[in-house]
Amino acid sequence: MVQNATILVVDDTPFNVKLLVDLLGIQGYTMVTATTGPEALEKVAEERPDLVLLDVVMPGMDGFEVCRKIRENPETTLLPVVLVTAMYPVEQRARGIEVGADDFLTKPINQAELLARVRSLLRIKVMHDAIQSHAGELTEWNRKLEIRLAQEAKLAEVARSLGDIGHEVRDQTTPIKNGIFLLQEEINDLFGRLPESERYQAEASQKLCQEIIKMVTNGAHHIQERVGEIADCVKGLSSPLHLVPCQVKNVVSSVVRMLNLEADQKRVSLRIENLDSLPLIQADERRLFNAFYNLINNAIPEVSAGGSITIQGRADPEARFLFLSVADTGRGMPPEIRESLFSARAISRKHGGTGLGTKIVKDVVDAHGGSITVESEEGIGTTFHLHLPLEPA
Ligand SMILES: Nc1ncnc2c1ncn2[C@@H]1O[C@H](COP(=O)(O)OP(=O)(O)O)[C@@H](O)[C@H]1O
Ligand SMILES: [Mg+2]
Repeated sequence: MVQNATILVVDDTPFNVKLLVDLLGIQGYTMVTATTGPEALEKVAEERPDLVLLDVVMPGMDGFEVCRKIRENPETTLLPVVLVTAMYPVEQRARGIEVGADDFLTKPINQAELLARVRSLLRIKVMHDAIQSHAGELTEWNRKLEIRLAQEAKLAEVARSLGDIGHEVRDQTTPIKNGIFLLQEEINDLFGRLPESERYQAEASQKLCQEIIKMVTNGAHHIQERVGEIADCVKGLSSPLHLVPCQVKNVVSSVVRMLNLEADQKRVSLRIENLDSLPLIQADERRLFNAFYNLINNAIPEVSAGGSITIQGRADPEARFLFLSVADTGRGMPPEIRESLFSARAISRKHGGTGLGTKIVKDVVDAHGGSITVESEEGIGTTFHLHLPLEPA
């Protein structure tokens, strides 16, 4: 780069121009020349030299003026300029420094000094160029980073709203389910009160009503489950943990209370064992609830009538961890399902299933600094093991 450099020589005396061109040309530099100030500025713009050797005393625009204009232009503000002065007066140097000259040479030119200064300034120019280009890259990276941060902030906002909307939809489905239940009772009551003679005729219509009610109830339940899962997942990603001292037994009991009816209908028993003596754990209760809800809710449809789901726990001897398990006597899982669990790509075997339930569980466990594993054997059952620190880091 230093050897390929382009040097602009500016002097109103052709002899001086030729002298410098000859001295530097044989060193391998590309030489460009100008004999007036305005021409010098034109050449700076057109030829983009790496160094300017600038005569001070010229008719019209002198060297100081040219130097000042070079410095004013942001594109050439760092271009090295050597002022070539006829004598060596102190005041000329002072003015030169004022207008931004990098160095000075006095006439008559000393060849060794000329070459030494040119080389040294060109080396500095190379460094400046490298810094400039890195600065450009840095600015570009910074710009990209800012765009990305803005996009991520927007995404986080969208995720937060999605979570809120999801929970709202789930909660608003409860009055629908309750309403349908009351409607069913009312319809049954109405049909029951019909005189014997009309009852036979109304049978088909009662059956149709019941089917419609069943369809709507299932639909509402489906919406509640799925939207709730998506909302929990999004919320789990977007809202901070809210840790409070918490009794695992209470959390599990409230999940069991909520799912007991469904389990009863399938004649599956939900059992809680050894949770009474567990020490308190610092946890986000809502999320812990979600985790157990998903595990037990997943197990219920897999267990045949007469089977069970057991939630057990123990603390390690130094009481720094809790080991909790949810074990069922269900149909188990084939390896491909087991291996897909806990990720956003979990394979769901349910009609309309999201495959998000086990991911929610894993997110909750991870957020508490714990871990989760699963053992499952087809035809025997499935056990999820949770390992949770009493105090998340
Ligand atoms: N206790 C279990 N016994 C057998 N299979 C299970 C059990 N828990 C989960 N699975 C299987 O893992 C799949 C993924 O579960 P999950 O991530 O909660 O998504 P989804 O419930 O929407 O299918 C389920 O569809 C089911 O096939
Ligand atoms: Mg599930």
